[in-house]
Amino acid sequence: MEEDRIITAHLMMEDQAVEYSLRPRYLAEYIGQAQVKDNLKIYIEAAKMRKEPLDHVLLYGPPGLGKTTLSNIIANELGVNIRTTSGPAIERPGDLAAILTNLQENDVLFIDEIHRLHRTVEEVLYPAMEDFALDFIIGKGPSARSVRLDLPKFTLIGATTRAGLLSAPLRDRFGVVSRLEFYTEDELSYIVTRTAEIFGVGMVGEASREIARRARGTPRIANRLLKRVRDHAQVRGDGIITDAVAGDALERIQVDPMGLDSIDHKMLRSMIQNYGGRPVGLDTIAASIGEESQTIEDVYEPYLMQIGFLQRTPRGRIVTAAAYRHLGLPVPELNG
Ligand SMILES: Nc1ncnc2c1ncn2[C@@H]1O[C@H](COP(=O)(O)OP(=O)(O)OP(=O)(O)O)[C@@H](O)[C@H]1O
Ligand SMILES: [Mg+2]
Repeated sequence: MEEDRIITAHLMMEDQAVEYSLRPRYLAEYIGQAQVKDNLKIYIEAAKMRKEPLDHVLLYGPPGLGKTTLSNIIANELGVNIRTTSGPAIERPGDLAAILTNLQENDVLFIDEIHRLHRTVEEVLYPAMEDFALDFIIGKGPSARSVRLDLPKFTLIGATTRAGLLSAPLRDRFGVVSRLEFYTEDELSYIVTRTAEIFGVGMVGEASREIARRARGTPRIANRLLKRVRDHAQVRGDGIITDAVAGDALERIQVDPMGLDSIDHKMLRSMIQNYGGRPVGLDTIAASIGEESQTIEDVYEPYLMQIGFLQRTPRGRIVTAAAYRHLGLPVPELNG
């Protein structure tokens, strides 16, 4: 199951306790995402100079890349409160109205999984985002009239793993739209080093790089791998994470040097065995390995495409020659 994978990018129970302490609190501590950060720095500075709220911000990208972290940093840098909620948690328009009327001037409202907002709730959001107002209809029939209630000015930060599912009117109301990218090995290695310092665990040699290489470009996975490696170092060594300890632990965790686990292997091998180099439809892949299409699309595929192991074509997914080589299989003719 996806949920049980050590390399799942989704938040697991065991992450929750530590994530809070590991979250950087200022832009300067937030590693990577240089372009997103540089832009935000300017917009935040400008908003503060004008004593106005920051434009509404949409952050999107695969799970575990730092959307929630960045949202909290933005509020912190602006020096305002952040109110956190999520799309599915807001059940009725009245719930959203209550949240909005309780904001203070220039506050940040963070809506996680914003693609899962109910349609009726979304409609309340439009005038709120555009005019900082709520529109009500009072009464029924011919005597019904529309009343407008002014709201404090605020910044909406929406986060989503699936920007494609956002309705156009909602997407258009964000002034800043930023896509978070997978992290480089250097960046992840730096994050692992920082986390080890916070944990107070000794790490030497190339261990941080070894962990970074297997973290699928994702800070959440890097931190989780480090925790497992730390356990190995403690129980089977003297607590210090050396190259040997890291290598051995990662071997046991069964994450290969590219960060692929048994499910990635199963998926690639099944595509190769059953379809050779030919394109395979998403649903077919899902059925053959017993996973949901959406999980494959959100979680497995983005990274496999990023490292060039999978290609998306109009006729389906294709396993690339690089993946064959990684798995130690002969590359078929039609794949070049
Ligand atoms: N740029 C970064 N620098 C350092 N650590 C980071 C960075 N981005 C993320 N992290 C670490 O990764 C963890 C996961 O990040 P976060 O929860 O913000 O991801 P997310 O994109 O909101 O994920 P999800 O889509 O599951 O909500 C954080 O607790 C933090 O420790
Ligand atoms: Mg999040």
